[in-house]
Amino acid sequence: MNSLVEKINLLKKEKNAVILAHCYQNAEVDEVADFVGDSLYLSRKAKETNADIIVFSGVSFMAETAKLLSPDKKVLLPRLEAGCFMANMINVDSLREFKAKHPGIPTVCYVNSTAAIKAECDVCCTSSNAKDVVKNLAEKAGVNEVLFLPDTYLGKWVESELGGKIKVTTYNGFCPTHLRLRAEDVEKSRLEHPNSKLLAHPECHNTVSALADFVGSTKEIMEYVHKTNFKEYTIATEKGVFDRLKRDYSGKTFYLLSEKLVCQNMKWNTLDDIYNALVREEHEITLDEETSQKAMACINKMFEITQPVLVR
Ligand code: 13P
Ligand code: SF4
Repeated sequence: MNSLVEKINLLKKEKNAVILAHCYQNAEVDEVADFVGDSLYLSRKAKETNADIIVFSGVSFMAETAKLLSPDKKVLLPRLEAGCFMANMINVDSLREFKAKHPGIPTVCYVNSTAAIKAECDVCCTSSNAKDVVKNLAEKAGVNEVLFLPDTYLGKWVESELGGKIKVTTYNGFCPTHLRLRAEDVEKSRLEHPNSKLLAHPECHNTVSALADFVGSTKEIMEYVHKTNFKEYTIATEKGVFDRLKRDYSGKTFYLLSEKLVCQNMKWNTLDDIYNALVREEHEITLDEETSQKAMACINKMFEITQPVLVR
């Protein structure tokens, strides 16, 4: 019978389903994906689609965000194990403890957090709009300090980008994938590829970001490559971004800063899992009404401050 790709495409038609894939996914997933991009772009696509079923090939907080933005659709996560290590570093109890230590300070949560966490924060942000969100929240609240969670490195990078004018007090979460990089990796790469532009994600350790030629979100890194005409680029973010850039810009040379830049959880979803999720309509994301409403208020505040950012 048909190949797995053909079977999935047939099922998509039969069930009026759409497949959204994050840039960090195994590249094979792109063969069946309707849209490929960063987490917020995919959420927007989830909101816009007329499909009845959304298969979200990414990690669970992304599928949850899609469900929040499209509550009437059935949202499926191909593999339940696909959670974000960083998002799972904070729970409601530890969030409340963190807030209690800093009473009265407004709270920004990175989109890499569960709906239950978003429900208890003032405003959400992505790595593309974190600076604007922090600045705007502090200005509106008339304060010069905000709480930021779960990623301490993104929070501290924002603080330094804003010239230290706003104190960003961070929760001690981090991304184990990006934190595998050290300043020594950058120094070694500079010696090997002295003419290469080094592009880093702000989830990297701040000592790594400080040595990069450009620091930006997934979307901003991809745009940087698109808009510039350098011959060589060194990628300091998850390998999926490197794989797609290499595929899409054959005239340019790319180096991955370290082979360790692989998010294992992002690689769980395979074509088999997507097929099974579609056939069985399994691993559906469900959220209770109260959490959904509060988490949506947190996301909507972000949309009021800054327009969502898109990859393509
Ligand atoms: P994006 O929001 O850019 O998709 O990134 C998500 C992520 O997990 C970064 O490590
Ligand atoms: Fe989470 Fe890091 Fe994986 Fe992104 S790369 S999904 S932040 S663990």
